[in-house]
Amino acid sequence: MQKTVLVTGGNKGIGLETTKLFRQLGCKVFVVARDFSDGTLRASTNIVPKPFDLTDIDRIPQLVAELGHIDILINNAGVMHSIPYDNYPQEKIDQMVKLNIEAPVALIREVAKSMLRTNSGRIVNNASIAGQIGHPDVWYGITKAGLINATKSFARILGPKGIVINAVAPGPVETDMLNVIPEERKKVIKSMVYTNRFAMPEDVARAIVWLATECPEYINGTCLDINNGAFPR
Ligand SMILES: NC(=O)c1ccc[n+]([C@@H]2O[C@H](COP(=O)([O-])OP(=O)(O)OC[C@H]3O[C@@H](n4cnc5c(N)ncnc54)[C@H](OP(=O)(O)O)[C@@H]3O)[C@@H](O)[C@H]2O)c1
Repeated sequence: MQKTVLVTGGNKGIGLETTKLFRQLGCKVFVVARDFSDGTLRASTNIVPKPFDLTDIDRIPQLVAELGHIDILINNAGVMHSIPYDNYPQEKIDQMVKLNIEAPVALIREVAKSMLRTNSGRIVNNASIAGQIGHPDVWYGITKAGLINATKSFARILGPKGIVINAVAPGPVETDMLNVIPEERKKVIKSMVYTNRFAMPEDVARAIVWLATECPEYINGTCLDINNGAFPR
């Protein structure tokens, strides 16, 4: 039977590669993001773009209700600002906490309603190495640590009901997000990884799709390192 997938931030970067892989598997993919105007992701029988701002937490229940049953949720959308901790505008903190933490948790809560009726479902949260070792953008690190922790809490709550929920913790990945990392820091990080390159979006997407499909259900509540051996601080 065709699986229905919801990928947040599935219109670019890691999310776009994830969307493409699910499409190749014959899934129907709802892609939630704010802006589809660049035309990279075209609507088709199996791809349904859903323009939505995920910081609008109160509207998430309505969004999920409109989509119907979701077999696989990929909480991928996220933001990083690289703003110093002592000059961080409150508005930016609020936006980041909403997008990186509150929205994924609200989406888990909402998709779980129908997953619990079928005693099945897969959820993958795109966290970050920042959630494991800290980050110069302290709010980014804090929210990603929270997402890893939420993965474990929900695995405990929903695992007994047949739902498998895991996270990934990528190091730097070649997407627009890297644009806010200073060149000097990029150089240092690159020199620390085994193969002297940053991850490509498909490296992460393939891990996400594996966790969402073929990964044994006995792997539940984990966070998979995708860092090529480097834990840069
Ligand atoms: N790149 C890295 O080095 C790296 C490393 C570790 C983890 N990650 C994580 O990987 C995930 C994807 O990041 P990426 O590298 O692929 O970055 P990206 O290319 O900048 O993608 C970010 C995605 O989030 C969506 N998004 C941002 N704000 C949103 C909002 N308010 N509502 C709905 N969607 C929103 C964006 O779409 P719109 O702008 O159209 O809304 C876009 O699809 C993030 O959670 C990030 O923290 C990235």
